[in-house]
Amino acid sequence: MTSIRIGLAGLGTAGRSLPQAVAKTEGYVFVAGADLRQEAREQYRVEFGIPTFESVAAMCEMRELEAVYVATPNPHHAEHAITALESGKHVMVEKPMALTLADCDRMIAAADKSHRKLMVAHTRSFNPPIRKMREIVSSGKLGQVTQVHTLRYSPWLLRPREPVEINTELGGGVCYRQAPHQVDIARLLGGGLVRSVRAHAGRWSPENATEGNYSALLQFENGVTATLIYDGYGYFDDRELIEGDIFGGDRQLGPGQRLRKARQEGKLNKDSSRSGLAFEIERGDGDAGQRPRQPFFGFTLVSCERGAIRQSSDGVFIYDENGRTEVPCPIWEGPLRVELEDFYEAVTEDRPVPHDGKWGKATLEVCLAIIQSSRDGREAVLSHQVPSPY
Ligand SMILES: NC(=O)c1ccc[n+]([C@@H]2O[C@H](COP(=O)([O-])OP(=O)(O)OC[C@H]3O[C@@H](n4cnc5c(N)ncnc54)[C@H](O)[C@@H]3O)[C@@H](O)[C@H]2O)c1
Repeated sequence: MTSIRIGLAGLGTAGRSLPQAVAKTEGYVFVAGADLRQEAREQYRVEFGIPTFESVAAMCEMRELEAVYVATPNPHHAEHAITALESGKHVMVEKPMALTLADCDRMIAAADKSHRKLMVAHTRSFNPPIRKMREIVSSGKLGQVTQVHTLRYSPWLLRPREPVEINTELGGGVCYRQAPHQVDIARLLGGGLVRSVRAHAGRWSPENATEGNYSALLQFENGVTATLIYDGYGYFDDRELIEGDIFGGDRQLGPGQRLRKARQEGKLNKDSSRSGLAFEIERGDGDAGQRPRQPFFGFTLVSCERGAIRQSSDGVFIYDENGRTEVPCPIWEGPLRVELEDFYEAVTEDRPVPHDGKWGKATLEVCLAIIQSSRDGREAVLSHQVPSPY
C-alpha cells in the first residue's frame, strides 16, 4: 500500500488530532511539523521524532513531503494552503476554508494549476452518523428531504481562546468557527444548493466582542429548508439530549458550569485548550451519563416525505410508518479518520475530493451570509453553491 507522507502546519489544538489519526490509519506517515511556537516545535520533535520548522514555507521545501494538513489560525489558511499547493503538496485545510470568497478562489486556482488535491476538512459533516443520514437520504427510500433542523448548545466561548479566535474580523466567533460544521451538515443533507439565508447572530457575552450565537434559516433551490441554531454560552449543553445525565459529581454542574467554575477558580490559563485540560474539565469525572459511541455535534433531525432520521448512540434512528429502526454506524475511532480515508483515495487514485475547494467556498458563502443577513436585517441571496458530492 502506498503511504502518503504528511506534514502538519499548526501544532495547536486542532493539529493534535493528526498524529493520533495517522497512527490509526493505514497509508500515512507523519513526517514534519511547522509552528511559530518554539515549545510546540520542540515537543513534536521529541514526541514524534520528526523535523519541525518555524514556517510553513520552510516545511514545504522538504522534497519528500507529499501532503500538508493546514491547522493554523483562520487568517492564515489561504496563505499556507497556497504555499503548500505551489510547492507541489496536496492539502487538507481546516474550516473555515478562508476568510473571503476571493481567497477561496485563489486556493482553488492554486490547486488546479499544481494538479494537487485540495480538501476542506474537517467539519462535523464527516461524522459517521451524518454520513449515514446522507446515505439514507440518497437511497430515496424515505422520499425527498423536506427540512433539516440542527442545533448545538456548547460552552465554546468558555474555553480559553486566543485573541484571533474571538475577533470576527480575523475569522473569530461562532459564525466563522462553528457555523461551518452546521452549514456543511445542512448542505450535505439538503442537497448542497442554498438559495438564500435569513439569520440573526448575537453578541451577548460581555467579555467577548464577537458572535456567540445565531439562528439561521436556509432555503435551498430544491425547496428544502434548514434551521441552524447555535449557542456557545455554555449554560445548556445539548449533549444531554443524547447522553442523558451529563451533570457530574453533585449533579449540579454540567460541562459549561464546570468550565465556568474552573475559570473563576483560576484553574484555566491560555494554554488549557491546547493542553486538553479545558476539554477534560468539560467532560467531567467520566462517570456522568452514558457516553455516545459516535461523535455528536448537536441534535440533527432530517424530515423526509415518508419518514425522519436522527442520531442514536450507535448510529441513527429511522422513523417511518413501521416505527423506529436503529441503523448502526461503523465503530468510530476518533477524529480525522474518515477525512484521511477520503483524502487517501482522492490522492492515490486521482479521484475527485468530496469536500473540495468549491464545496468549502460554498459553505463559507453561507457562513458569511449569516453575518451579512444579521447586519443588514434582511435575506442574503447566494450565488456560489455546489451540489452535495454524495
Ligand atoms: N474542525 C474542528 O473541529 C476544529 C477544532 C478546533 C480548531 N479548528 C480549526 O483549526 C485551526 C486552528 O485552531 P486551533 O484551535 O488549533 O488553534 P491553536 O491556536 O490551538 O493552534 C494554532 C497553531 O498555529 C500556530 N501558528 C499561528 N500562526 C502561525 C504561522 N503563521 N505559521 C505557523 N504556525 C502558526 C500557533 O502557534 C498554534 O500552535 C482553526 O482554523 C480552527 O478553525 C477546527
